[in-house]
Amino acid sequence: MNSDVKKVLISEAEIQQKVKELAERISKDYKGKHLLMICILKGAIMFYSDLARNISIPMAMDFMAVSSYGAGTKTSGEVRILKDLSGPAEGLDILIVEDILDSGNTLNYIENILKDRNPASLKICTLLDKPERREKPIVVDYVGFAIPDEFVIGYGLDYSERYRNLPYIGVLKEEVYASPAE
Ligand code: PRP
Repeated sequence: MNSDVKKVLISEAEIQQKVKELAERISKDYKGKHLLMICILKGAIMFYSDLARNISIPMAMDFMAVSSYGAGTKTSGEVRILKDLSGPAEGLDILIVEDILDSGNTLNYIENILKDRNPASLKICTLLDKPERREKPIVVDYVGFAIPDEFVIGYGLDYSERYRNLPYIGVLKEEVYASPAE
């Protein structure tokens, strides 16, 4: 285990099992539809690629990058588009794929933008959900794990751009973000 990690919250095996279950549900629900899975960069990258690998129906991929956190550990509430979709969304069955739903500010913003582009349908899949931190009401259709309000990293999630490559979800030691090293 990485020495900055206090404990493993969700193991690699648990994540992969959940990814398979979600992909199976999504493959059933979107059969015969025009599925466009949108990865919200950067955090969702690991989840998205594992999920896509397990989808058994035709699907298209696209990517969006938004930022709300800056370098800190708390959301600022401000959302900016850093990278937009490369193609149109009109008439497609869009599934937004996120790593974590926290305050809901990011997904609220993305949902509103995409709704205006007239997709056939718009749903959300998130690996992690921190329900107690919600500021904006969000309806999520596919959830991997509801987790407590702890600072989690790994499997795409970062602290100051580190730890995204860990294959599990871990809780970061307080001393790492209390006195960050350069
Ligand atoms: C994280 C995460 C979600 C968002 C969730 O992204 O990937 O997109 O915050 O928080 P919210 O519900 O409070 O809006 P971040 O802005 O840190 O960018 P990243 O994905 O590139 O790490």
